[in-house]
Amino acid sequence: MIIDTHAHYDDGQFDTDREELLRSMHDGGIGMIVNAGSTVSSWEKIRELTEKYPFVYGAVGVHPDEVGSLTEEDMERMERLLDLDKIVAAGEVGLDYYWDNESHDIQKKWFIRQLETARKKDMPVIIHSREAAADTMEIMREYASGMRAVIHCYSYSAEMAEEYVNMGYYIGIGGVVTFKNAKKLKNVVVKIPLSSIVLETDCPYLAPEPYRGRRNCSLYLPYVAEKIAELKEVSVEEVVRQTEENSRKLYGLKSQ
Ligand code: NI
Repeated sequence: MIIDTHAHYDDGQFDTDREELLRSMHDGGIGMIVNAGSTVSSWEKIRELTEKYPFVYGAVGVHPDEVGSLTEEDMERMERLLDLDKIVAAGEVGLDYYWDNESHDIQKKWFIRQLETARKKDMPVIIHSREAAADTMEIMREYASGMRAVIHCYSYSAEMAEEYVNMGYYIGIGGVVTFKNAKKLKNVVVKIPLSSIVLETDCPYLAPEPYRGRRNCSLYLPYVAEKIAELKEVSVEEVVRQTEENSRKLYGLKSQ
């Protein structure tokens, strides 16, 4: 089965057809979805989704763009949510120096704080990192060693990807790999082992070709799997089988 390791079905862009869309996943070959958290207000919606749909799992965390108003009480709430059976990871957490919504110090503080919360609960983490390669690597080395993690929507060099792979982390690959101009990411996929790759949409964002620019959803993941198969010179079935195994290890998902 195909597992979408990073989606945002709590997003308002799905308000008109969320139910219908999620009900169509099984027929579309999508076996499991992990809905990542981005704001504190997303957490309750995510919990509801995991309670409503057997194949939807959740992660709770706060995206670096949104950490400005975080409090220690929020961290306590995050800890309690991480105890729930269907909440399988902390995230997404990290650094975003592209949007730079919050100062780097504030971003780093809450990135580290959320890593500590995940470690305390023995949970894997979903890492968001944009234009913050060096600081992210430094913090991962210092605060996340030995933890399970995925570097989601990976956008850096192949050398750095290999470094993360050597640290035991997974690399999240999504729609961008199908873009014509994505030479760097294609090279990453060629260089790292398939045993370190997981599939993700980050929907509603980053739809693959031929849907680029439109609202993304997990049903488009076969296009991502096909591109990875082409780059790795293996069958699509092999990509789906191996990434399923990787995703289950990452999030500790049992076979259904
Ligand atoms: Ni995301």
